[in-house]
Amino acid sequence: MEFQGITGNFTGANAEALAVAVFKGEKAGSGLLGELNKLTGGALAAVLKSEDFKGEKGETALLRFAPKGKVKARSLMLVGVGNKADYTHADVGVAAGAATRYLRTRNNKSFAFLPRYDGDVVIAAQNAAQGFVTSQFELDKYKTKDKKDKSVNKLVLCIDGATASDLKNGLNRGQVVGESMNFTRDLANEPPNILTPTEMANRAQSMAKEAGLKCEVLDEAKMEKLGMGSLLSVSRGSTQPAKLIVLRYTPAKNTGKKGELLALVGKGITFDTGGISLKPGDGMDAMKYDMSGGATVLGTMRAIALLKPTVPVLGIVAAVENMPDGNASRPSDVVMASNGKTIEILNTDAEGRLILADSVAYAEKQGATSIVDMATLTGAVIIALGDQNTGIMGNDQELVDRIVALGKECGEGFWQLPVSKEYSKQIKSDIADIKNIGPRGKAGTIMGAVFIQEFIDKAKWAHLDIAGTAWCDTVKPHHAKGPTAVAVRTLLTLVERSQ
Ligand code: BES
Ligand code: MN
Ligand code: ZN
Repeated sequence: MEFQGITGNFTGANAEALAVAVFKGEKAGSGLLGELNKLTGGALAAVLKSEDFKGEKGETALLRFAPKGKVKARSLMLVGVGNKADYTHADVGVAAGAATRYLRTRNNKSFAFLPRYDGDVVIAAQNAAQGFVTSQFELDKYKTKDKKDKSVNKLVLCIDGATASDLKNGLNRGQVVGESMNFTRDLANEPPNILTPTEMANRAQSMAKEAGLKCEVLDEAKMEKLGMGSLLSVSRGSTQPAKLIVLRYTPAKNTGKKGELLALVGKGITFDTGGISLKPGDGMDAMKYDMSGGATVLGTMRAIALLKPTVPVLGIVAAVENMPDGNASRPSDVVMASNGKTIEILNTDAEGRLILADSVAYAEKQGATSIVDMATLTGAVIIALGDQNTGIMGNDQELVDRIVALGKECGEGFWQLPVSKEYSKQIKSDIADIKNIGPRGKAGTIMGAVFIQEFIDKAKWAHLDIAGTAWCDTVKPHHAKGPTAVAVRTLLTLVERSQ
């Protein structure tokens, strides 16, 4: 993959096509679009006047440049970006992605892109490159035929008046972010016979080695010693042993507040059958993505390691398979977690919270002062928020507000649900300290959160329920269907803004 930045006139850009962002209702006029109009011999103005292209978000059109003009590219692609007043840097990424996917199907290998974004150049370039990289991810890894093997190899980004170093820096950052998101998506897409907990730990280890992170994998014997009875209760029914993946990023120079440590903790259920509380067969295949929270942690840690912010970050992934078996946990079993709390397991399908309990407690023991956990935790969050917003809950309003705001900036929606003592009361057990489910049909997403909260001691904590947002069922102009790597961008930004 090749990236180039052009700070002056776009006409010399060495690419097969030129893609330009066009705002809603725009006409050719006298500026850039006027210049392009001349180069197309008037075709651009005609298209903009017609009903063929209105500049709506995601709209596309392809024109030809007049032969023997001064522009190197052969074709001009229009990418609608909607109202100018609402144009964000996240939209730059969407537009770059939409252009990439469109040109790819026409077998273009390169294009120059004019995002026409007035804000920060580095951020615009980062989003353009990230959109370029993530738009080309496909689900065809295991196809031996009919692979989508066409790809666009080169992006030339044109931002008038930018400095070459800003462009280069932004493009490089965007490539890292995009590749890290694709790393997350590849994991989420892996079939569960291939991505076992052991394999997930192996992938984490080789990623850590490449990116320069410390990686430690705790096996079941070690977890037993640490008293992680809650996590281990979930892997009992599987022949695949559980792994607790611990990644450490330590900056050369720490400019953060003294003693502060952020931990990212992810649910890595490589397959969720429900266990003895077996799920219905219909749609169970979707549960290969139940390790998406863990995959997000790994992708975010990869980006952090390569972009080197000046604050430390701890990454923890509980990789476990939830299977029914003679040895599996039963509804009504009681186990003890590593913080000494006893849990009555009333539904073995509420397993995500059981593995996160010991994981967040471990993060805090390792010195975490802020913890963000992420998990495909509840079907209820899909009913509440669909695939547009991730459910967010937490014990620290400032941390929650920050994630919501950064999400908006990055083009990722987060919507807060309440957690309060009244809800916590509903998971009190008759025979143990707590039970792993609340009252049937009531506030299922919140019940998952208040359960995890029982294992947070002093840390600031936010919980992201990504069950609805980690997978997208439909193809979009800038995005294949399938895993989304949701929250990677927001969490990376959270880390970078705390430097
Ligand atoms: N992994 C599922 C959550 C899920 C369900 C994600 C459907 C996507 C689609 C989780 O482990 C689970 O099974 N949750 C149960 C909790 C219930 C038993 C309290 C659920 O949501 O039904
Ligand atoms: Mn489950
Ligand atoms: Zn699950």
